[in-house]
Amino acid sequence: MIAVLVFLFGVAFISSAPTDVQQELGNTYGPSITEGNCTVTPDQDLLFSDHIHKTRIPFFTRSATTTYYGDIPIYCIRAMNQKAEERGGNANITKGGIGHTYVDIEMQSYVDHGIEFIIKIYGK
Ligand SMILES: *[C@@H]1O[C@H](CO)[C@@H](O)[C@H](O)[C@H]1NC(C)=O
Ligand SMILES: *[C@@H]1O[C@H](CO)[C@@H](O)[C@H](O)[C@H]1NC(C)=O
Repeated sequence: MIAVLVFLFGVAFISSAPTDVQQELGNTYGPSITEGNCTVTPDQDLLFSDHIHKTRIPFFTRSATTTYYGDIPIYCIRAMNQKAEERGGNANITKGGIGHTYVDIEMQSYVDHGIEFIIKIYGK
C-alpha cells in the first residue's frame, strides 16, 4: 500500500512539472552531472549540499527532487551518483542552473532500484 502511494505521488509530481521552463533548462541529464566550471571549488563557495537516498521498492521506480533557491549565482553543480551506472538511475537539471541563483534537480531510479546521490552546488 505504501509502495502504491509513493508511486502515485511520483507520477503526480512528474506530470505536474511546469512546461514553461524550456528556456531555463541547463540541458543536463545523466547518471551523474557535472555542470559548469568545477575545476576550482573552494569550500567557502559551497552554497548547498544534499544527500539523497531512497531504498528500492520491488517493481517500482523511486524519484526525488533537490531544490536550492538562493541569491548567489551558481557556477558549478555536481550530482554524484553513489551507485553503479547500470543500477543508479539518472539526474536531470529541470530548472535554473549555471548562472542562475536557483536550481531544481530531479532524480529517478530504474524500476526495481533505489537512488543515492550526493549533490553539491557552488556559487560566488
Ligand atoms: C574555471 O574557473 C577557474 C577558477 O575561477 C578559472 O581559472 C578558469 O579559467 C575557469 N575555466 C573556464 C573554462 O572558464
Ligand atoms: C529533463 O527535464 C526537462 C524539464 O522537466 C524535461 O523536459 C526533459 O525531458 C528531461 N530530460 C530527460 C532526459 O528526462
